Amino acid sequence: MNFRSLITTPDKLCGTVADALLVVVATDPDRHALDASLQAVLSEAINSGDLALKAGRTLYVHRPVGMKAARLVFSVAADDGAKAFKVALVAGLAQLKSLGVKHLAVAASAALEEAHAEALVAAVTDAVYVYRHTKPSAAAAPVLDRVTLLTDKASAQAVQRGLKRGEAIAAGVTLARECANRPANHYTPSNLAAEAKRLGKAYGFKVEVLDRKDCEKLGMGSFLAVAQGSDEPLKFIVMRHEGAAKASPPVVLVGKGITFDTGGISIKPAGDMDEMKFDMGGAASVLGTFRALGELRPKLNVIGIIPSCENMPSGRAVKPGDVVTSMSGQTIEVLNTDAEGRLILCDALTYAERFKPAVVVDVATLTGACVIALGHHRSGLFSADDALAEALLAAGGAALDPAWQMPLDDEYEEALKSNFADMGNVGGRAGGAITAAMFLKKFTAKFRWAHLDIAGTAWKSGAAKGATGRPVGLLTHFILARAR
Ligand code: BES
Ligand code: MN
Ligand code: ZN
Repeated sequence: MNFRSLITTPDKLCGTVADALLVVVATDPDRHALDASLQAVLSEAINSGDLALKAGRTLYVHRPVGMKAARLVFSVAADDGAKAFKVALVAGLAQLKSLGVKHLAVAASAALEEAHAEALVAAVTDAVYVYRHTKPSAAAAPVLDRVTLLTDKASAQAVQRGLKRGEAIAAGVTLARECANRPANHYTPSNLAAEAKRLGKAYGFKVEVLDRKDCEKLGMGSFLAVAQGSDEPLKFIVMRHEGAAKASPPVVLVGKGITFDTGGISIKPAGDMDEMKFDMGGAASVLGTFRALGELRPKLNVIGIIPSCENMPSGRAVKPGDVVTSMSGQTIEVLNTDAEGRLILCDALTYAERFKPAVVVDVATLTGACVIALGHHRSGLFSADDALAEALLAAGGAALDPAWQMPLDDEYEEALKSNFADMGNVGGRAGGAITAAMFLKKFTAKFRWAHLDIAGTAWKSGAAKGATGRPVGLLTHFILARAR
């Protein structure tokens, strides 16, 4: 997809050369700064009742009189913000779906900022994405391959920056979706490692892949316990973007890479278990973020760590009640083998200490409880560091990839007490997302840390089942903001 901007003025919109013109209009008719021909079409549509000026409404006009573009779509935005702009674009793009539009021009009555341009790239990239890796019969990809965002002179530079950033993030989001959508028999820990190496080659990241023996030497008893039930070899992936001086402390991203979560001996019910192929969504988002970093090259050191394995029941699988020794030396009673994410992350967090990180952010499809708490719109954010939490929330807001801060009071820790180890790996049903975060917190004493529970946001269920590529946008914005 080729995105560009073009400086123009409202009186020239009717002369826009494109296969379709999508105009995002305000709910207030006094703010529609359009040329006479476009205004005539719009006014008539409004007066005849064909287009209500309410957020979400759209109108398609074929061969509009007095216009160069053969197709015209109006889409009404709730307000001038980037979020409303994106919602209106998604609705407008739906009108154009399956039409032969190769070149789309987009105009808006709102003043455009960087975030609007970025939102346009995200909306278009999403509209044309088709998963086809294991579905040869999938619909042909839309023919749309060129998008021009019309802007006034004052916004031109911001729009240009937004498009560039948007394209890098969209490439990262698409990569994350492609990885996570693949079924577990097509996407094993080895495939994840190969993907990381490919990225390393393409963008010059250093990539290191540790195997079982390496992890044994490091004493990763917790990670190894989860992996031991599977015949598929585990991989512990470390990748580095070196954008600043060696001594500059890195941002470390840790992504949960369970390529399939059966629950292990504490096996999950059959319904919807297929969706546990998405349990490497955290890992996919780290790869996707690195893809974006490869394009944007921020002057900052970033390290990605991905512990990856399957969680399977077998004659060798870890059993409820087994006690394992984590790399930190702390022992863990595995009360539920389905709480495996925290067991692989805790060793990855301890491993992160060696980088003397500025901050560590882990990303994981960690708990069903987080889905109950926050639904599918906001990711759960946990951090005892207010400045770090603030920065991540702001990044999520700017990227339209929002999160919501959850508590981490000491009182929640009690639920993890065990008579047989330093801690149990589960704390009961109440506050399940929080006790999971409290478990991780026990491995983060040596650095500033935040945890993102993306169980509700990494994929969609139902008819639109598929990975979302979240939170690549949030993470990329977070890193770019730190690099500034
Ligand atoms: N990968 C799951 C979390 C999950 C479940 C994400 C459903 C999205 C939808 C995780 O490994 C898990 O199984 N967590 C358990 C923890 C429990 C045993 C304390 C859960 O949430 O049920
Ligand atoms: Mn599980
Ligand atoms: Zn899991």
